[in-house]
Formats: sequence, C-alpha cells, structure tokens
Amino acid sequence: MKNILVVQGGGRPKGNTAQLTNAFVRGAEEAGHHVEIISLTKIEVKGCLGCNACRYGKPCVIKDDFNELVPKIKAADLIVFASPLYFWTISSRIKAFIERFYCIAEEDPNPPLGRYESYPVKDCALLMTAADNFFWTFAQAVSYYQFALIDYIGFSDKGKILAGGCGDTNGNPQIDKTNYLTEAYEFGKRI
Ligand SMILES: Cc1cc2nc3c(=O)[nH]c(=O)nc-3n(C[C@H](O)[C@H](O)[C@H](O)COP(=O)(O)O)c2cc1C
Repeated sequence: MKNILVVQGGGRPKGNTAQLTNAFVRGAEEAGHHVEIISLTKIEVKGCLGCNACRYGKPCVIKDDFNELVPKIKAADLIVFASPLYFWTISSRIKAFIERFYCIAEEDPNPPLGRYESYPVKDCALLMTAADNFFWTFAQAVSYYQFALIDYIGFSDKGKILAGGCGDTNGNPQIDKTNYLTEAYEFGKRI
C-alpha cells in the first residue's frame, strides 16, 4: 500500500482537473492505496519569499497552510501534481506549492553536480488538462516538471496523463467526452 498525496491546483470544483484527479484517486483507492487530495483552492499556499530564513535553521516565515502540509509531504510515497494548463504551464497554485519545497530542503554535504541541498526521496506523477490538443500543448509544463521535480529535486517520475482537448476556456468541462478519465482511473489502479 502506498501513501499518496494528490495536490490539486485547478480552480473549478467540478472542472476537468478535478474530474481527472477523482478518476485517478478512484483507481488508486481500488488498488488498496491510501490517498489524500489537497485542493489548493481550499487552503492557502503562497509562493516562497526567498528570505532564506530556512537556510539558517529557522521555520518558514510565511504563516499559511503549507506548514501543516509538511508532515504529509514527508510521509507520502508518491506526490501527484494535478493542474490545468494556464498560459502553457502549470497553474500558479501548483508553482507556489513547489516553491515552498525550499523550506523542506536539507543540507547535503556531498550534493550531486548542480544541486545545493537534498530533498525527501519521493515518487511523483503529473495529471494535466487543457483546452488545446497540439503536440506542443504541454511541452512547457512537462519541461518544468521534468527539470524542477525530477532532475533537480530528484523525485522519480511514475507517469503522466496529459489530457488535451477538454473544451475551450469559456466552455463547460468536457473531459467526460474524452478517454482520459478511463486512462487516469487505470493509471491509478496500476500506480
Ligand atoms: C487562465 C487560463 C489560462 C489558460 N491557458 C491555456 C493554455 O495556455 N492552453 C490551453 O490549451 N488551455 C488553456 N486554458 C484552458 C484550461 O487549461 C482548460 O480549460 C482546463 O481543462 C481547465 O481546467 P478546469 O476545468 O479544472 O478548471 C486556460 C484557462 C484559463 C482559465
């Protein structure tokens, strides 16, 4: 059994991203995993201020809900990042959440080339939705995920569902007309 934390950065409670997340969670729970969804619209996680207090052994100066998430992040085997595509990348809520990883970094006496600190070892996965469905639609978001979470922080990628063509920006969520909810459910079952 895995301990899975799903961080949901979509704005609409019944939107494409929420539906994709729920399909994944249903599969993962049926497979016997423990799953918790953190919706970043229900709690407040601000972006990092870069004050560097955490680099001097002090707790994060930002007094918001991130601090209560830290034990959950540390206890998770797998962190799933779920986001709509906003202006060709992840939503600012997910970006702010990732920025705050700065305060859970630990000193690394022997860091690999290009890294300055160490992060908890985790698996991770990416769930995204978008209106467009071109071959470049998710290129920037996936590039950020790969660079920041896999290459730099050192998480291990377990897979991605990139659900393009889920309806235009003004329209109703249309992910139910695609095959992505089934894909996400099956992804959750085999995670
Ligand atoms: C602020 C904003 C920016 C968006 N930017 C893009 C974009 O760059 N490319 C795209 O294909 N869709 C874009 N969309 C559409 C959303 O990615 C798409 O509708 C998504 O499925 C919405 O997720 P939700 O239903 O969970 O809210 C944007 C929507 C909003 C509100």
